[in-house]
Amino acid sequence: MRRAVIAGSGSAIPPRRVTNDMLARIMDTSDAWIRERSGVEARRYVDPGTATSDLGAQAARRALEAAGLSARDVDLVVFATMTPDHYFPGAGALLQAKLEMRDVPCFDIRQQCVGFLYGLELVDAHIRAGLARTVLLVGAEVHSGFMPYSAANWEHLYDAARPGPTPEEHAWNSRFRHLTVLFGDAGAAVVLVADEDGGGRGLVDHALHTDGSEYDKLYVPGAGFKHRPYVDAGQIERGDHIPVMEGRQVFKMATTRMVEVARQVLDRNGVGVGDLAMVLMHQANKRINKHCQKALGLPDEKVPHNIQEYGNTTAATIPLLWDENVRAGRIRPRDLVLLVAFGAGMSWGATLLRA
Ligand code: ACO
Repeated sequence: MRRAVIAGSGSAIPPRRVTNDMLARIMDTSDAWIRERSGVEARRYVDPGTATSDLGAQAARRALEAAGLSARDVDLVVFATMTPDHYFPGAGALLQAKLEMRDVPCFDIRQQCVGFLYGLELVDAHIRAGLARTVLLVGAEVHSGFMPYSAANWEHLYDAARPGPTPEEHAWNSRFRHLTVLFGDAGAAVVLVADEDGGGRGLVDHALHTDGSEYDKLYVPGAGFKHRPYVDAGQIERGDHIPVMEGRQVFKMATTRMVEVARQVLDRNGVGVGDLAMVLMHQANKRINKHCQKALGLPDEKVPHNIQEYGNTTAATIPLLWDENVRAGRIRPRDLVLLVAFGAGMSWGATLLRA
């Protein structure tokens, strides 16, 4: 039977490491609050001019190198992001040009924190149907573009000797603090190949869900075609171009749905938690993951985290965790691994695979 096997992975980590104390220079927050409530200690930001497709391209080059393949071998690109370089075209098309690929189909998908898992199912279906043999699946985000800071605030963030925010700017930054402290920039990619004889290796099963009735718990109210024009100065003044998040409700939904969907996939494949080598959970809040880990009865060594170093990197999170753990030798060929995520939509899902 033809299976989609992950043949290589790679990631792209931006150079600016921004600690919680650095954020506390420009808004009313503290290292203690952020660590305790979310587990985040630092996040990375790109420099101006670096876009999502750049992070995606860098990660994709590393994934191709790890797989021993060239960009010319790729016959499909799926790019998961909620922060594309431009409103259109999608980041996949830009990445294809940067990597000088053939004129293969490229599409972007918009499933936020579950984007990588939606992408995996899509790629799996293409490979099983014989529509593609070598696929690049990328998750990348430049969340720093959502940050509400003025240019002067950015300078102060990176260099405390520069003039700090005015009281008005400080109040404005603080209005969004519950959201901005959680997110960071990153890119990660995997190459999936069709394998006729992988000895059981490859993607095994997926469960994906969306409940659109709860979309307004995490969304961007402005900069959309519900408005005419779709973006204007009034929206920017009100901050409608910045995401709105009802943290407590999202937290509650995430803990319930992630446990539910993990059990759904495990049960229908007759897999017990003891059979799993590792469970990679989306990194939105360490407390969410600790709750899920406990509910599923998983030991610490099977549930790695990287939220402390990168924050929530949305579509990049799961492939980034994958890449780190494969390169560190903690995920080995043929290991049974479960991926679980929850995010805006609201959407959630799980993928079971044999590495
Ligand atoms: N620094 C200091 N204080 C803060 C901060 C901050 N950064 N943010 C909020 N607070 C304050 C609040 O104002 C509030 O103060 P009050 O009690 O005086 O009103 C207090 O801390 C508690 O606020 P809560 O929002 O209730 O804090 P909570 O413990 O719920 O943590 C958090 C907030 C971290 C946002 C949490 O709710 C969470 O992680 N939610 C889930 C996020 C998530 O999973 N998002 C989905 C993925 S993203 C995607 O799909 C794109």
